Amino acid sequence: MPSPSLHKFSTTIEAYRTKLADESASVRDLKALDEVRNQFLSRKRGYVTLLFEEMKTLPAEDRPAGGQLINALKTEVQDRLAALEAKLKVPAKARPDLDLTLPGRRLPWGAAHPVRLFQQELEAIFLEMGFSIAEGPEIETDYYNFEALNFPPHHPARDNWDTLYINDTLLLRTHTSPVQIRVMEKQKPPIRIIIPGKVFRRDVPDPTHLPMFFQLEGLVVDEGITFAHLKGTLEHFLRRLFGEKLKIRFRPSFFPFTEPSAEVDIECLACGQKDPACRVCGGTGWKEILGSGLVDPQVFKNVNIDPEKYSGWAFGLGIDRTAMFAFGIQDMRYFFENDLRFIRQFHLK
Ligand code: PHE
Repeated sequence: MPSPSLHKFSTTIEAYRTKLADESASVRDLKALDEVRNQFLSRKRGYVTLLFEEMKTLPAEDRPAGGQLINALKTEVQDRLAALEAKLKVPAKARPDLDLTLPGRRLPWGAAHPVRLFQQELEAIFLEMGFSIAEGPEIETDYYNFEALNFPPHHPARDNWDTLYINDTLLLRTHTSPVQIRVMEKQKPPIRIIIPGKVFRRDVPDPTHLPMFFQLEGLVVDEGITFAHLKGTLEHFLRRLFGEKLKIRFRPSFFPFTEPSAEVDIECLACGQKDPACRVCGGTGWKEILGSGLVDPQVFKNVNIDPEKYSGWAFGLGIDRTAMFAFGIQDMRYFFENDLRFIRQFHLK
């Protein structure tokens, strides 16, 4: 138990401690800070000096303890003043002023990108028809991207699919077709899948080309599959998407992994087949949206599926390009400029 006189002394010190807290809370500038400093630490009349005077009235045996109490207070005053000074010396602009009456800051919500939303619409149509969804890697081997799809090394068809190589065998996939091979290696027919994903090409950006874009691949393998199934499925799909009246045409084409092959064009919905100077269709009135064909027997052999027993078809559609038509956009590059005023228009129903 401290003696009554020491107890009284420590109560006095406690009162100064409270005073220090009160005074320093109202300090707003260096001048006010100096006043507080003088109040407590001035050699002549500072509270600390006065306390040392007062301590001399304590009984001799209480003085050491009294002195410790004053020194503790003194250190506290010095620390607090130093901290205040450091804070006041930071330029006002950099100082975080906390105003609890301000409304909170709202964090922006993320949302799916329009191309992804559109991809989901396409997927829904195929899911309705009994397709399932498969995926594969964006960094592919030369074997899956080319060889297994019947592009021998140095085949000129590879020129159209030039891309970035990571080393001699790894590359950024140029189409979603390699996933056909990956699926057929693992799964025996019947197969009925779609494969959405990102692909890369050495394309110069223009209203309908981008060096990175999205494809939707389709693959059906079973006994007795014919070109009529391909045609019927794609026509149904495109009319579900763009309406019953959509004009569609199949044009003979070439792909090393399909035989026969066809590209599918739809009427140019940007100009309604009317503008000879249309930037989207170049005045032709048609726009190619996908490549397709019957799976080449050599591809089946590469994955140990018997081409005498099974046949199949495949297609690969440009999702972004088709989205342009669906949304009435004149330039595919808008999708990837990250202009929120553009992007925000597509938050679908
Ligand atoms: N992979 C081809 C392309 O990217 C499209 C395609 C897919 C063609 C499937 C035929 C069959 O152009």
